[in-house]
Amino acid sequence: MRIAIVGSGGREHAIAVSVKKSKKADKIFALPGNAGIAEIAECVPISVMEFDKIAKFCVDEKIDLCIVGPDDPLVGGLVDVLKENGIKAFGPDKKAAILEGSKAFSKDLMKKYNIPTAAYETFEDADAACEYLKTAKLPIVLKADGLALGKGVLICNTLDEAMEGVKEIMRDKKFGSAGNKLVIEEFMTGREVSVLSFVDGKTIKTMASAQDHKRAKDNDEGLNTGGMGNFSPSPFFTKEIDEYCQKEIFQKTVDAMRQEGREFKGVIFFGLMLTENGPKVLEYNARFGDPEAQVVLTRMESDIIDVCEACIDGTLDKIDLKFMDDAAVCVVLASDGYPLSYKKGFEITGLENFKNKNDFYCFHAGTIFNKDGKIVTNGGRVLGVTATAATLKEARKKAYEACNWVSFENKYMRTDIAKAIENL
Ligand code: AMP
Ligand code: GLY
Repeated sequence: MRIAIVGSGGREHAIAVSVKKSKKADKIFALPGNAGIAEIAECVPISVMEFDKIAKFCVDEKIDLCIVGPDDPLVGGLVDVLKENGIKAFGPDKKAAILEGSKAFSKDLMKKYNIPTAAYETFEDADAACEYLKTAKLPIVLKADGLALGKGVLICNTLDEAMEGVKEIMRDKKFGSAGNKLVIEEFMTGREVSVLSFVDGKTIKTMASAQDHKRAKDNDEGLNTGGMGNFSPSPFFTKEIDEYCQKEIFQKTVDAMRQEGREFKGVIFFGLMLTENGPKVLEYNARFGDPEAQVVLTRMESDIIDVCEACIDGTLDKIDLKFMDDAAVCVVLASDGYPLSYKKGFEITGLENFKNKNDFYCFHAGTIFNKDGKIVTNGGRVLGVTATAATLKEARKKAYEACNWVSFENKYMRTDIAKAIENL
């Protein structure tokens, strides 16, 4: 089969590595891809929001399956455009991707179908939001309704901070039209777990659980980022919790979407908080997580193309989704300064150390070939160094060792990824 992968991050590199393992894959393209993906796929310089160009490419190149990675093209309707052009596409259509595209939509859905989540109110008017805040309990969480590069969530400890947040999101439009609506939500405490799942409209099959580290600095300090590293499985996501979530959250969400006339096919990523009153949904994403894909897909034994086709065809119930017992840990090597400002264009050395190793992966996130053909840094998150081993502890040790194999100027990483499991 001829496969196209849309996207250019570490997640898309992990998807490409999984596709490469499939017996069904003859030729892989990445649009636009990156310097790491280029080792296993042909990278084509078309960006993820150029829907017509992507569709034309897929038609001209007789693509059998197009896997869409990032949120923006999914929420914008790329899958609809591909389908209209007769291309088999993996990912939710626009109607279903609203599950991630609008927090107000997803909160209303959870309320209507009794899916456990934090209490909330939605506002379209900044004055009304400010009035409400005056009586609300602190800390309080503000969420811009639309996509905001993972930065549209503010946790406010004081009324002043919350008022300032309303101003930034709704009046100053810091996140553009994503701030036309605002969700104000109860603050929850507990351990966070990410559960990714394949969905075919009716059936849902969850993948292995993972735990992300979203803050830039050790001890969960610093700004929120796209994710600085993670591990899978999460030992905190026990069998008992899983059983509860399958019934009260996972299947209910899929059924709710179908009942709303928004049949979901693709990946639903459940961001959960394990509170003392049980697991609750923090957020939904309509795609693989980044860097969750790096640890979860690395552990997946089932053929990714079979699974994607089953999601599209509505035959997921026939798939036996398998994961290896080995654990995986991913440490993100970033450009110092991320998520604010950072320099790019530094040469990366030592990448060859990952060649011919089954238990080490170096997923490229922000890399590019410079004019001399050298691989250089080209983003905030540069690489996702990932290792697998029989235990999380061993995988953690190996991942951190491998972080020393590569060098580039301004290299920055957290030193406490998966540290929580050391004390178990
Ligand atoms: P989200 O983009 O919705 O996942 O939010 C980003 C991060 O903000 C989450 O991973 C949580 O750490 C935190 N967060 C979001 N909503 C809440 C909440 N209601 N209570 C506490 N923390 C939250
Ligand atoms: N790692 C979190 C996300 O992909 O949204």
